Amino acid sequence: MLPSVSNDIRLPIVDGKQKSLLSDISKIAYEEAGLIVVPEKAPIVLSRVSKRLRALKLDSMTDYQEILHGPNAATERRELISCLTTNVTSFFREKHHFEYLKLHMEGIRERAKSGHEVRIWSAGCSSGQEPISIAITILEAIPEAGSLDIRILASDIDQHVLKIAREATYTASQTESITPTLLKKYFQKVKNPDCSNRYQVLRSVRDLISYRELNLFSSWPIRKQYDAIFCRNVVIYFDRPSQVHLWKRFWDASRPGGLMFIGHSERIPLEISHRFLSIGTTTYVREAQPTSAHARTKGENLGT
Ligand SMILES: C[S@@+](CC[C@H](N)C(=O)[O-])C[C@H]1O[C@@H](n2cnc3c(N)ncnc32)[C@H](O)[C@@H]1O
Repeated sequence: MLPSVSNDIRLPIVDGKQKSLLSDISKIAYEEAGLIVVPEKAPIVLSRVSKRLRALKLDSMTDYQEILHGPNAATERRELISCLTTNVTSFFREKHHFEYLKLHMEGIRERAKSGHEVRIWSAGCSSGQEPISIAITILEAIPEAGSLDIRILASDIDQHVLKIAREATYTASQTESITPTLLKKYFQKVKNPDCSNRYQVLRSVRDLISYRELNLFSSWPIRKQYDAIFCRNVVIYFDRPSQVHLWKRFWDASRPGGLMFIGHSERIPLEISHRFLSIGTTTYVREAQPTSAHARTKGENLGT
């Protein structure tokens, strides 16, 4: 499903076997998950892959390459992609997005109260802090959300981070960005075997979220028109044609007037910008119909 693009990687100085493995990996990463392995990342990639070699008790990179193309290729490629992804996240990361979401809560409550379903998607949710921050924002404004048809889809390509997301139990340092009031209200303390504290998210919060392993470049078994999509700090690892392809699909998957939140260093590419109206920092509204770029430059009213 990815646009075809040459993935010619120019590597820093590495030996022949490493070079062969790296170009194989960069090809697989791009074809399977849209990930671009930049040359500067070669040492990190090699170090992460070395861990896989040790876990599989393999002696050589050539043996590993054989697995990547052998009968168990699908399983190992999944592990490889997991090694290559960056999973950094935190609660209420890029706080202004949750402020915007809060501003839309009255509309969301009205929609849900009048019998409509409300769907929010955290695409690339990593270990779950993003969908939990969304759920808490909803519950703060709509305490009865659990009895309404309001649901959050939390998806990621990486099975390992999804396991952590489903467990929804975090260390004290991971919860530092949550105010003491919210921590007390939505988390319960649990003891680790080493007696340190961990914080588990309450069931009332978790019940709003469904977790799913999903590669954004595979087909989406999703029929819903999303009211808001958070896809933050995910597409920075993709090339421009893949990003354009993805934003078009997000446009298709959201309802007119739906919100789109992207990461602080991401931008909606120019060729797709007529489909999303910027309403704030890295915050967009999905246009009902793609408006012409010409109309936009003339400053006409593009509201939905
Ligand atoms: C840096 S984290 C961002 C987490 C969260 N959205 C945030 O902003 O805090 C990026 C996540 O995107 C996921 N990801 C990368 N490529 C993906 C793909 N092709 N499909 C789905 N998820 C992907 C990674 O596994 C990782 O968990």
